[in-house]
Amino acid sequence: MSNILLAIIGWDPKGWEQRFRTLAPQHDFHMWPEQVGDHADIHYACVWNPPAGLLAEFPNLKAIFSLGAGADELMADPKLPDVPIVRVVDSDLTMRMTEYVVLHVLMYHRGQRLYDAQQRERLWREHDQPPASEVAVGIMGLGVLGTSAAWMLHRIGFKVSGWSRTQKTLPGIATFHGQGGLESFLRRAEILVCLLPATPQTRGIINLDVLRKLRSSGALRGAYLINAGRGSLQVDADILAALEEGSLSGATLDVFPIEPLSVASPFWDHPKVTITPHNAAQAVPNTIVINVLRQIDRVEFGIPLENVVDRNRGY
Ligand code: NDP
Ligand code: OXD
Repeated sequence: MSNILLAIIGWDPKGWEQRFRTLAPQHDFHMWPEQVGDHADIHYACVWNPPAGLLAEFPNLKAIFSLGAGADELMADPKLPDVPIVRVVDSDLTMRMTEYVVLHVLMYHRGQRLYDAQQRERLWREHDQPPASEVAVGIMGLGVLGTSAAWMLHRIGFKVSGWSRTQKTLPGIATFHGQGGLESFLRRAEILVCLLPATPQTRGIINLDVLRKLRSSGALRGAYLINAGRGSLQVDADILAALEEGSLSGATLDVFPIEPLSVASPFWDHPKVTITPHNAAQAVPNTIVINVLRQIDRVEFGIPLENVVDRNRGY
């Protein structure tokens, strides 16, 4: 039996608590902040956006589990205890992100926003559409989520390329890496999909300079942005400026530097912007709790943990 803390902020904790208790009645679950009990008794913490400094209050933690794929909020905690931080890698979450990316790439490829506008005008008018094989999609971040989206887009027939920190080889996908490979990667991308983690190196990476390098004279006759990574990657004012000057023809934004997005944000009623409320890939208890419990078993049986965040890299 282990004592497991559940500290979940920004998501409804009820479904998580219920799933943990149902699948692992042998463990004692302590909901933060009401049921913490003796801090020294807690062995594991399963968290989403806990307040900075909270985890340092538990002296006997063996591991911390982020209930989402991104661990950036945890890594930003200056008092983060020196125990393994494990993030979510889950096929359900990965497939949700792949669906999101495919949906929005196809939306731009098929000109769906134009047909929506025509429908409002009761206008029956067909427009030419290039084959997917002529449309170049560039994916920033070739990790678990980026690779899955890249494969699916490749399968549908798009010209796919990817950019990562270290070199990758993916059959059928053109790969670029590091600062040295960034410009060539951007110059060929008509639709830029961002699936990078939030780190000091990636902060503000989606800026005017980068957006101006996208290929706006390709098959789509315009460049498009899809950011489903983290809000800190993007410079909102630069996205608006790129839309204004035409270097960007449309943007899908799932994440923002400050969430929820302010009701006063000009993005809400911008005719070229599509907004979703940070739900590109929802983390749902159903499968993620199974993963976390499996990992706790690994610690208890002395088997190395999987998907441990590398503190030096920050993701
Ligand atoms: P991974 O850690 O598996 O992949 C991260 C990728 O980004 C890797 O390919 C890595 O390169 C690359 N990368 C990191 N830093 C740099 C850099 N400085 N320059 C170039 N490439 C870099 O993460 P996931 O794919 O699982 O998730 C990605 C992000 O998606 C998460 O961190 C999270 O922020 C976000 N996310 C958003 C969700 C949403 O609903 N909007 C849901 C889930 C996740 P390399 O492989 O060479 O190290
Ligand atoms: C995650 C997220 O990182 O939901 O899983 O953003």
